[in-house]
Amino acid sequence: MALERTFSMIKPDATRRNITGKVLAKLEDAGLRVVAQKRIHMSLAQAEGFYAVHKERPFFGELTEMMSSGPTIVQVLEGDNAIARNREVMGATNPAEADEGTIRKEFALSIGENTVHGSDGPDTAKQEIAYFFSETEIVG
Ligand code: CMP
Repeated sequence: MALERTFSMIKPDATRRNITGKVLAKLEDAGLRVVAQKRIHMSLAQAEGFYAVHKERPFFGELTEMMSSGPTIVQVLEGDNAIARNREVMGATNPAEADEGTIRKEFALSIGENTVHGSDGPDTAKQEIAYFFSETEIVG
């Protein structure tokens, strides 16, 4: 299996409810290791830049406002097949469709306030990691 890195966020709906430790435990229990991490409060412009791929979507305003509404944990996770493993433990984007045992099934409030984000492929992972971290900040 390939050792990979992926980008992960624990979103403002989770920091607001003080459940970041519970979310992190799920990620660690899935075999993922935090190799870089910081708590930030994204500006609207930063959120718009991060989610630029969605800028034509009807939910773009709601999404970027939510992501700049409070603190977010941004992190790099490492592990075997980390990208797929992270997506598996996160569960479906819409918590109503998420499998039992996944983070979104357990914690997400709605499709907008869905607690976590994870990169969807190797190219995205690289881009998203670079959006928030320099190489020297990745220490695992
Ligand atoms: P995320 O994995 O961070 O990637 C894009 C985000 O857009 C997604 O999680 C959801 O939080 C959000 N999103 C997707 N569809 C909708 C929607 N219909 N309404 C509001 N937010 C959405």
